[in-house]
Amino acid sequence: MGADGLLALDQGTTSTRAILFDAALHPRAAHQVELPQHFPAPGRVEHAAEDLVAHSIACLRGAMERGGAEAAGIAGIGITNQRETTLVWDRATGRAVHRAIVWQDRRSAGICERLRAEGLETLLTERTGLLADPYFSATKLIWMLEEIPGLRARAERGELAFGTVDSFLLWHLTGGRVHATEATNAARTMLYDIRRGEWDEEILRALDIPRALLPELRDCAAEFGTTDPALFGAAIPIRGMAGDQQAATLGQACFRPGMAKSTYGTGCFMLLNTGDTPVRSSHRLLTTVAWQIGGARTYALEGAIFVAGAAVQWLRDGLGIIHSAAEAGELAARADPDSGVVMVPAFTGLGAPHWDAGARGAILGLTRGAGAAEIARAALESVAWQTRDLLDAMRADWPGMGETVLRVDGGMTASDWTMRFLADALQCPVDVPAVAETTALGAAYLAGLQAGLLPPPGDNATHWRRRVRFEPDMPAVEANRRHEAWRAAVGRVLG
Ligand code: G3P
Repeated sequence: MGADGLLALDQGTTSTRAILFDAALHPRAAHQVELPQHFPAPGRVEHAAEDLVAHSIACLRGAMERGGAEAAGIAGIGITNQRETTLVWDRATGRAVHRAIVWQDRRSAGICERLRAEGLETLLTERTGLLADPYFSATKLIWMLEEIPGLRARAERGELAFGTVDSFLLWHLTGGRVHATEATNAARTMLYDIRRGEWDEEILRALDIPRALLPELRDCAAEFGTTDPALFGAAIPIRGMAGDQQAATLGQACFRPGMAKSTYGTGCFMLLNTGDTPVRSSHRLLTTVAWQIGGARTYALEGAIFVAGAAVQWLRDGLGIIHSAAEAGELAARADPDSGVVMVPAFTGLGAPHWDAGARGAILGLTRGAGAAEIARAALESVAWQTRDLLDAMRADWPGMGETVLRVDGGMTASDWTMRFLADALQCPVDVPAVAETTALGAAYLAGLQAGLLPPPGDNATHWRRRVRFEPDMPAVEANRRHEAWRAAVGRVLG
């Protein structure tokens, strides 16, 4: 390993991983640890704060060890993370006052209703680009301030710090010396003015959130401090931070306006680069910061759907019709393509563009001829149709989008059948990159950019290479007809 290794730390919802890259952004070594999930009550999802820190340190050490790298040879660490997940900790001890409340957690739904009833949604959406939904950090923080005895008084005295996972990890990796975040994570709190690039004082007042809790704001590529020398043998500079979906957008080199990426994990997150304009959505998409580099913000329209890979997990664990995720595509390929079976996987409600928390899943169009293969096919198709709904909403919100190629990543891209169907459903080419770990790649890119090893986002996207392209094969008329059948099925499950 040369002297210019870059370390990416990707703290995700279900696992933490670190990847060591060389200065040309080739992955060299990795270490991954699964993250235990806590479900203390229906609709609640938590992570132990100690796990987040301990696993991150273990993964960084593991990747360095496997890659034969010394701290002195690392030019920078880039941190990327599950977004919105909320922590509050004691500034004196670093200890969290409560387990992290995860982005999927719905406990603050009542607080969201209250904010809507108080007529605050317009202000929140105009300033932050988000919707009053429990998904975002602000109402999770309000829940803690209201439910944990004494917390508000301690927060007002300046004894506590709030942060998303990036700032919590930064605090601990720097030995409690730095309390900061950056624009992309800030943009998911519902407390940040995405146009001005600062915490929104009016929202803080309206939501009664003590200013003293908030971290400092920085660019995504910046000097965030150095690691505590006791952790890795010597201090390593932390030079990049971004939320995981934004890091994947950088890893996919969606550098120009009109470029879009979609990540297929448990759920699916699609981001469209809209350049220096924050495009206001009329179709219930989110407006968010794609990155902030050199003080300038690039914006994105984002669509989030809750069930993508989770539909395949359900085929395996709920129905038992496959043994491994890899079998889903093989089974789907054997289905009657004209069976008319449609599945709407609204297991936890529907996200963008419907945002219906009360919707529940359905399988429609069953006949005596339908079996496991048709259901598997309908599950995989549902992922493509949900993506099509996002793409249609993006096109309607931003006519400047024009023709596009969708860059995809995440576990489901391993299924050629699904990716081929995705190209058919979208009626646009779908590109799978050579480096599948696009999130970590984006974080390493930010650290490398700050270290002066890599160029800023531009036409020279040297780190992105295509592994394979899927072109649409289905005639547009047929794709549209099938999409209409999907939309009719969605209409049946909406509240
Ligand atoms: O907004 C939530 C998203 O950042 C979570 O991503 O990959 O950790 O499930 P992931």
